[in-house]
Amino acid sequence: MMIPLTDSQHNTTISPLTIFSAEQLAHLSPAVAQVATHLNLYLNESTIANRVQALAQQLNETYEGVDELTIICVLKGSFMFLSDLVKHLKVPVKVEFIRLASYGNNTQSSGKVKTVDLTLPSLEGKHVLILEDIIDTGLTLSFLVSYLKDLHQTASLKLAVFLDKPTARKPEAQHITVDFVAFSIENTFVVGYGLDFSGHFRQLPYVATYTGPPLSDTH
Ligand code: IMP
Ligand code: MG
Repeated sequence: MMIPLTDSQHNTTISPLTIFSAEQLAHLSPAVAQVATHLNLYLNESTIANRVQALAQQLNETYEGVDELTIICVLKGSFMFLSDLVKHLKVPVKVEFIRLASYGNNTQSSGKVKTVDLTLPSLEGKHVLILEDIIDTGLTLSFLVSYLKDLHQTASLKLAVFLDKPTARKPEAQHITVDFVAFSIENTFVVGYGLDFSGHFRQLPYVATYTGPPLSDTH
């Protein structure tokens, strides 16, 4: 499902004052304030809720009859997607959390994956589903899939992402197949629903796209 930017809701500018008070805004770094003042609504709460529920239904069909599903939630960005999705799952679920980082405070992928915490139990013979907030260049998931395949003989290993930016994929990550996608989006920088800019905006219950001038790297 590709979500076009031309949909009327995408032209809805979000007032920064619905996110922060004027005083809070004044205390933000210039780059974060710039993002806060140039956001358009991209996916609203009900669009997200309906799609996440439909995705859960797809997962229920895929994993029907399976004893147990281990979900690996890639922090930090995937916490909201995970919590909304698991509520609708009927298969018995175990949740593991790992933390990877590829973005500094920038809107461009650094191309390098920083492993912050990769602690996992044995996944021998387990059905495993990796849950990611967004696949952009694909380098993060490419790294993670190779890492897990090298270490664990899983019964199955699939990928679910909340957002997919298919046109941003780097050639070295073209081999990555995402099994479940909530929304395919254009190659635009987005925040909200767990996704951040410089640590901010994760709390927004909707997804917003940044529409301002290119951001400098100096924040
Ligand atoms: P990849 O390795 O380039 O596929 O990037 C994956 C990671 O980059 C995601 O898990 C996010 O943390 C981050 N990321 C990519 N695109 C965006 C975006 O538009 N907004 C916020 N974070 C993003
Ligand atoms: Mg992430």
